[in-house]
Amino acid sequence: MRFDGKVGIVTGSGSGIGRATAIGFAARGGTVVIADINEENARKVEREIIDAGGRATAMSIDVTKPADIERMIADTNRRFGRVDVLHNNAFGMPATAQTSTQAAGRLADVEESVWAYMIDVGLTAVWRAMKRVLPVMRAQGSGAIVNTASISGLRADYGIAAYNAAKAGVINLTRVGAIEYARDGVRVNCICPGAIDTPLLAPALEQPGFAQRFYETIPMGRLGKPEEMANVVLFLASDLASFVTGAAFVADGGQTAKTGSPSFMPE
Ligand SMILES: NC(=O)c1ccc[n+]([C@@H]2O[C@H](COP(=O)([O-])OP(=O)(O)OC[C@H]3O[C@@H](n4cnc5c(N)ncnc54)[C@H](O)[C@@H]3O)[C@@H](O)[C@H]2O)c1
Repeated sequence: MRFDGKVGIVTGSGSGIGRATAIGFAARGGTVVIADINEENARKVEREIIDAGGRATAMSIDVTKPADIERMIADTNRRFGRVDVLHNNAFGMPATAQTSTQAAGRLADVEESVWAYMIDVGLTAVWRAMKRVLPVMRAQGSGAIVNTASISGLRADYGIAAYNAAKAGVINLTRVGAIEYARDGVRVNCICPGAIDTPLLAPALEQPGFAQRFYETIPMGRLGKPEEMANVVLFLASDLASFVTGAAFVADGGQTAKTGSPSFMPE
C-alpha cells in the first residue's frame, strides 16, 4: 500500500478517522491535503506529518460551502498538478447542537434546521466534492474516492434519524459514482465504520451506562481505533483495491453481523 507520487485530500482530517488516514497516506509516500473547518487542528496534523518526514499541507475549509470545496479541489490540482485520492470524511453537528446527544430525538421531533444541516454536512457535501473532483480524475484517467459512510447508513439507530438518512445516502451515492465513472478509471467506495474512539462519539459515551450498553452490542467488546478505519480507507484508495468499486466496506468489530437476538445457549 504505497502512495509515492500521489496526491490525496482528506476532509475532516484535523481529528479522528480523517487524521489517521492523512497520517497513514503520508507515511506511505503520498502528499496529503489536510482539509478541515478546524484550522488549528489541521495545522497540528500538518506539522506532525512534516516532522515525521512526510508531505502535507493544511487547508481551512467548510464542506457545507460550495466555494470552499471548489477551492479545495482547484488549489490542490493547481499546486500539485493532480488529485489521485479524495477521502470525503468530514462530519460535524449543527451550531445549535454541538454534540451528538444534543441533536438526538425521535424523527418527529427533529428540528428542520438540524435535519437540513446534518443532510448538508453528511450527504450533500460528499456529492459536492465528488462533483468537483470527478472531472479532474476523468482527465487524469485515474482516481480513487473513498467516502466515510457508517453502519448507521445500513441499519437504523434510535434517536439520530437525520444521521441515518445522510449515511444511507452516502452509501448509494457511492454506488452511483462507481458505476458512472468506472470506465473513466475512477473507483468510488465507502467505509461503514462501527463505533470508533473519536471525539464525535465522546458525548454519547459520557452518558451514564451508555458505554457499557454499547460495548454489549459489539462482539469484539470494544471501540475501534481511528487507525483501524484508516487502514481500510487506505486499502480502498490504493492500487491493491484495483478491482474494488461501489463497495460499502464494513469495519465494526462484528456489530452488524448480529441479528440482535439474545444468546440461544442455555444459561
Ligand atoms: N466515530 C464513530 O464512531 C464513527 C462511526 C461511523 C462513522 N463515523 C464517521 O467518520 C467520519 C469522521 O468522524 P470522526 O469520528 O473521526 O469524528 P471527529 O469529530 O474526530 O472528526 C471529524 C472532523 O470533521 C471536521 N469537520 C466538522 N464539520 C466540518 C465542516 N463543515 N467542514 C470541514 N470539516 C468539518 C471536524 O473539525 C473534525 O476534525 C464522519 O463522517 C463520521 O460520521 C464515525
